Amino acid sequence: SFTPRVFSGIQPSGNLHLGNYLGAIKRFVDMQGSDFETVYCMVDLHAITVWQNPQDLMKSTRELCAGFIASGIDPEQSILINQSQVPEHAQLAWIFNCVARMGWMQRMTQFKDKAGKNSQNASLGLFAYPALMAADILVYHATHVPVGEDQKQHLELTRDIAAKFNHDYGVDFFPMTEPVIEGAATRVMSLRDGSKKMSKSDASDASRINMTDDADTLAKKIRKAKTDPDALPSEAKGLEARPEARNLINIYAALNDQTVDAVLAEVGGKQFGEFKPMLADLAVAKLAPIASEMARLMNDQTEIDRILARGAERARDITAPILRKTYDIVGM
Ligand code: ADP
Ligand code: NA
Repeated sequence: SFTPRVFSGIQPSGNLHLGNYLGAIKRFVDMQGSDFETVYCMVDLHAITVWQNPQDLMKSTRELCAGFIASGIDPEQSILINQSQVPEHAQLAWIFNCVARMGWMQRMTQFKDKAGKNSQNASLGLFAYPALMAADILVYHATHVPVGEDQKQHLELTRDIAAKFNHDYGVDFFPMTEPVIEGAATRVMSLRDGSKKMSKSDASDASRINMTDDADTLAKKIRKAKTDPDALPSEAKGLEARPEARNLINIYAALNDQTVDAVLAEVGGKQFGEFKPMLADLAVAKLAPIASEMARLMNDQTEIDRILARGAERARDITAPILRKTYDIVGM
């Protein structure tokens, strides 16, 4: 049996957005201080699977660390790390590259999305990304991983890798990690197009709420969000064919820690002209303090670097013995 332990990560690739917050960070905060040990990671090795300017990468890593802390991750209670500072992630990833099968990797929809039409020109790292992600999780023997819906397939692959390793070497060494995909906002959509997920890489800044947006920018983006002309329904099934409406209601529910049904019981019958200012006020109340705390923390980068160095030391107390044991099992 395995110690109940949570691991999750976010790429420091700029434009930390409301989808990352509601689908991931806010839920990381909720799992802190529960029955789990919590390990949260800036995954810079994942970020460089697509080109990152070195100065920007370093700034985004510190900004993401500030975003975690400003959102309520306590670096004493949780282990907060930058992936490249804990070398066992990359070391276990190599073993997993030799466990995972080409056919498994070729089925990953995120690779197809990110590589686009010219997949021959994508980096080998982008293709191998899910094996590194499996190593990130399993090098802690993590039992639970809170993520957004887009990561479901990668978590299945993580279990496949753990199962094949255990089977091939005749051990019961890696746990079958459970994804935790919960809440009203496991898939936050673009504010401009209800069929696309909100994403760091969308060229349109108006499509997403950035965690660094100030109150005026936030309110303006919500006012301009795409909607339809109908009044809001009073039950969730009334949102089924209305992706933009559903998205704004999901965002409201997740920000306010309510269910979608509870929100609709209050706002059913209202027009967007009335609901959008309510959502804007709520978003400003919840997010503007995080943005200003991030800015404050970014003024003391020495402190951020100290927190990450300390996190890496604590992490290695867990990862070094697990990697050593893995090498023993493999015959190294
Ligand atoms: P991105 O997809 O923005 O590049 P990452 O790949 O670093 O971000 O994902 C970090 C976390 O944020 C993952 O748990 C992912 O599932 C979650 N996430 C990303 N986008 C969204 C979204 N639009 N809605 C909900 N969760 C999301
Ligand atoms: Na993602």
